[in-house]
Amino acid sequence: MTSKNWIRRDFLKLSTSLVTAPAFLSACETNAQNSAQSAGRKPIIISTWNHGLDANKVGWEILSTSGSALDAVEKGVMVVESDPKVQTVGLGGFPDREGNVTLDACIMKGDGGCGSVAFLKGIKNPIAVARKVMEETPHIMLVGDGAKKFALAQGFKEENLLTEASKKRYEEWLQKADYKPQINIENHDTISTLALDAAGNLAGACTTSGAAWKMYGRVGDSPLIAAGLFVDDEVGAACATGLGEAVIRTAGSAMVVEMMRQGKSPSEACIEVVERIRRKHKTLKDLQVGFLALNKDGNFGAYSIHKDFTYAVSTDDGHVMDMAPSLFE
Ligand code: GLY
Repeated sequence: MTSKNWIRRDFLKLSTSLVTAPAFLSACETNAQNSAQSAGRKPIIISTWNHGLDANKVGWEILSTSGSALDAVEKGVMVVESDPKVQTVGLGGFPDREGNVTLDACIMKGDGGCGSVAFLKGIKNPIAVARKVMEETPHIMLVGDGAKKFALAQGFKEENLLTEASKKRYEEWLQKADYKPQINIENHDTISTLALDAAGNLAGACTTSGAAWKMYGRVGDSPLIAAGLFVDDEVGAACATGLGEAVIRTAGSAMVVEMMRQGKSPSEACIEVVERIRRKHKTLKDLQVGFLALNKDGNFGAYSIHKDFTYAVSTDDGHVMDMAPSLFE
């Protein structure tokens, strides 16, 4: 770690939120925003990556009219799932190495209610199926053919999720024997969203087409409660993006929430779990993971291994993009 990073980490330990955002917000502005949040438990929604802004805009319409955090996160991420231009989520997601688009998603409320689907084919909104699993079944997780059968029985429509654009990229990949995934492009897979509503309820949603060109049958962190997402109204919520294997190995999102339970700020909690990932891997080259955390008072934080992890924040003050601080510049 560079000395610059150490200096920044020390600064962040003194801060309720960690944000350095040369291209977006200043740290002061975001800290002020965090203080305002904690004063009144105002609604807030935060989402990973630039496409998180589209999710937030829809989610905020719900939150700002006294809607629930659960509806906000579900309807918000559905926008991204349905957008064929986003090649890491839902319709138009990059396929596995055999050409299949397989989707993973989970949703969770702060009272412990949760639902999940994994290895789901042919249904573009897996988050809505995950919510149905939560609300309509005695189970938490359905996978593969079982998840699809359930979705069809619930009225979801089957469609071809492999767009021409993603098929072309897949065919190009097949031609390259020396291919290596591109960090922050093929690894910046997940739309993860956390929200706090006016009633003080937290919820989160996490949905992805997973790592590009993954092995057939591979499932990442995104549908796994505790790895890709964890929400507890007593404390706060956290979600992850990046290489799922590294997130699963550390029970990443649950661990961030547990760090907050022990008194760490959202930012400090994200840093602690990224440090754990660092200790568990021989090299972090090409390994990106980012966390978002939101506590029950509406304070938030973010941190990633490598730079360029952006996230969207929406409150009464409007919609802004920010850049998470990172372990490596
Ligand atoms: N974070 C999504 C995945 O690894 O599948």
